Amino acid sequence: MRHQIVIIGGGPSGLLLGQLLHRRGIDAVVLERKTRAYVLGRVRAGVLETGLVNLLEEAGVANRLHAEGHAHDGTQIAVDGQMFHIDFRALTGKPVIVYGQTEVTRDLYDAREAAMLRTEYEVDHVTIHDADNDKPFVTYQQDGRDHRIDCDFVVGCDGFHGISRQTIPLSIRREYEKTYPFGWLGVLSRTPPVHDELIYANSERGFALCSMRNDNLSRYYIQCALSDHPDDWSDRAFWAELKRRIPADVAERLVTGPSIEKSIAPLRSFVTEPMRWGRLFLCGDAAHIVPPTGAKGLNLAASDVHYLYHALRQFYEERDPEGIDRYSERALLRVWKAERFSWWFSGLLHRYPHQSPFDLKMQQADIAFLRDNQAQQLAFAENYVGLPY
Ligand code: APR
Ligand code: PHB
Repeated sequence: MRHQIVIIGGGPSGLLLGQLLHRRGIDAVVLERKTRAYVLGRVRAGVLETGLVNLLEEAGVANRLHAEGHAHDGTQIAVDGQMFHIDFRALTGKPVIVYGQTEVTRDLYDAREAAMLRTEYEVDHVTIHDADNDKPFVTYQQDGRDHRIDCDFVVGCDGFHGISRQTIPLSIRREYEKTYPFGWLGVLSRTPPVHDELIYANSERGFALCSMRNDNLSRYYIQCALSDHPDDWSDRAFWAELKRRIPADVAERLVTGPSIEKSIAPLRSFVTEPMRWGRLFLCGDAAHIVPPTGAKGLNLAASDVHYLYHALRQFYEERDPEGIDRYSERALLRVWKAERFSWWFSGLLHRYPHQSPFDLKMQQADIAFLRDNQAQQLAFAENYVGLPY
C-alpha cells in the first residue's frame, strides 16, 4: 500500500493537516491509536485564534464554528478582588473565538469521513522506517495483522506521548523542558458561565480561571497541588475554593452544579528541535507543549500545520523543496514566542511554593503594569489573539 503522506495521530493537528492536503489533492492516510469516540471524549481548551479559524475555513470545516462559536473581544484579569479588562478588538482589531476543541475535532472527523478519506483506528506498534532516506515507510498492527504503508513523507501528529519524536536520533534531537510545581484542577458543569468573558484570576490562594464552552456549559479551573487527585475534591469543596479565588461580586453570581467532568492536568513547557528529520516532520504536541494558561496548545498546532501544509504544496505543486527545508526553522520561530507568552502568563497568575516576598512584589508590579500600561496591554493582546504566521 502507498500514500503520498502518512499522518500519525488523529487529533486536531493530524486531522486539520489531512483535510487541507485533501483539498489540494494531496493524499494522506491518518493512523490513530484510539477510536474516534475516545479522541472525541477528551476535554480540551477551546479558545481559537483567527489564524486557526482561517485554516478551518480553508479546510471547509468552519460552518458550525461560525454558527455556534462565540467571539470574545477581550478578557478579564482579576487580582486582589478587583478585575480589569483587556480589549483585544480595540487593541488589535481581532477577537478570539470560543468553540470547544472537541467540536473542532468532531467537525474535522465528520469532514474526513464525508470525503471518505482513509483513517485507520486502533492501530498498534506504529513504527517509522527509513525516515532519513527518500523511501520512508510505516508499519503498524491492527486487529493482530501487520501492515506496511510506503510514502513520500511521514508527519508525526501523535502528541507528546507519541512515537514520532522518539524516532529522531538523540544525537540530533535537542529538548527543552520546564515543569511547574502545581497542576490545574478542572471542572465541567452544565451551568451558565459566570461572565460573558473569560476571567483569569491571581489570588493569594492561587490561580483560578472561569471559562465556558457554550451558554449552558461552563469550564472552571483552580491551581492545585501536584499531589492532589480529583477524588480529593468534592464538588462542594471545588466550588467553595473557586469562590474564594475570584472577586466577591463574581462569586455571588456563580451558578454551581454537579461536575460532569473533573480532572487534574500538570503544567509543562516543552520544545524539541528540530521539527524535521529527513522525510519525517513533527507537528503540534508531538513537538511542543505549553502550559494551558495562554490557551496556545491547539493554536500552536495550527501554525505548525499552516507552515507544513504550504511546504508540502510547494513540494508537490512546484517541485520546490524550499518550504520543507525551512519548515522546522519557520515553525520554531513562532513556537518559541508562544512558549514565552505561555510561560510569562503562567508566572503572572500562579502562586509558587516558596515564592519570596520580593518575588510576590515583582508579580504584583507586573500585574499592575499590565493593568495600567497601554503598550503592555497591546503586547498581551497581540500574543493572546495570535502572533502572525
Ligand atoms: N500511533 C497512532 N496514534 C497515536 C500514537 C501512536 N503511536 N500516539 C498517540 N497517538 C494519537 C493520540 O491518540 C491522539 O489522538 O495521536 C493523537 C495526538 O493528538 P493530540 O495529543 O491532541 O495532539 P495534537 O493533535 O498535536 O493537538 C494539539 O490538541 O490535544 C490538544 O493539548 C493539545 O491543544 C493541543 C492540541
Ligand atoms: C478552557 O476553556 O478550557 C480554557 C480557556 C482558556 C485557557 C485555558 C483553558 O487559557
